[in-house]
Amino acid sequence: MKEFDWKDNIENKDEKKKIGAKIAKRVKDGDIIGFGSGSTSYMTILEINKRVKQEGLKIKAIPTSKIIEELCDELNIEKSSIKEEKPDWCFDGADEIDSSKWMIKGMGAALYREKLNLKNSKENYILVDSSKFVERLGEAHPVPVECDVEKIETVKNALLKLGARSVDVKMSKINENDVFITDNGKAILHSWFDKIESDYEDKINEIDGVLDNGLFIGYEYEIIS
Ligand code: A5P
Repeated sequence: MKEFDWKDNIENKDEKKKIGAKIAKRVKDGDIIGFGSGSTSYMTILEINKRVKQEGLKIKAIPTSKIIEELCDELNIEKSSIKEEKPDWCFDGADEIDSSKWMIKGMGAALYREKLNLKNSKENYILVDSSKFVERLGEAHPVPVECDVEKIETVKNALLKLGARSVDVKMSKINENDVFITDNGKAILHSWFDKIESDYEDKINEIDGVLDNGLFIGYEYEIIS
């Protein structure tokens, strides 16, 4: 079994394809585009690729995960990185989004590079099908927290102290006894909160051993649905 099975098992596929086609219309020759991760981004990349190949457009992608890097290679889309250049614009999916545009992202464990792209781009598009809108952030998804493997226990305790109701270590799908390891060689802690405060994104990142977390609070972006 693959670690990510979203390519073969996509919920709301038609809705995601339509959203992808909307975004593909924005592509211009020469664009450097931040490519998100997850199934909505995957469907969008296929739509972008259609236009690029049909019209002979030249674009560069800044992918947010190894799996999206591999997809770019398969499709022959040139890659760049955030270290080399800034994206003209980015697109990405989300797991939950509330009425204040606060989001939980990173159930696909790519939150670190997703946040880097979003922070480094002036134009951002978040692509969400109808299942992503929630009344209370955290109602259906935990906040993923990426941390050092050797610090799992101390980070878990700090999250519980901050107010998490429960914290689970994300396990591998390949071998369920193994901790899931991210592209950055870290672990992911799924942290369930009954209430998420505006300073939690920063507070979680201040915990020793944390690389980043999947809360996106107060970012500028346009919702495409
Ligand atoms: C990946 O780490 C995530 O942030 C995804 O963007 C998010 O999980 C949404 O995924 P889907 O597009 O598959 O719903």
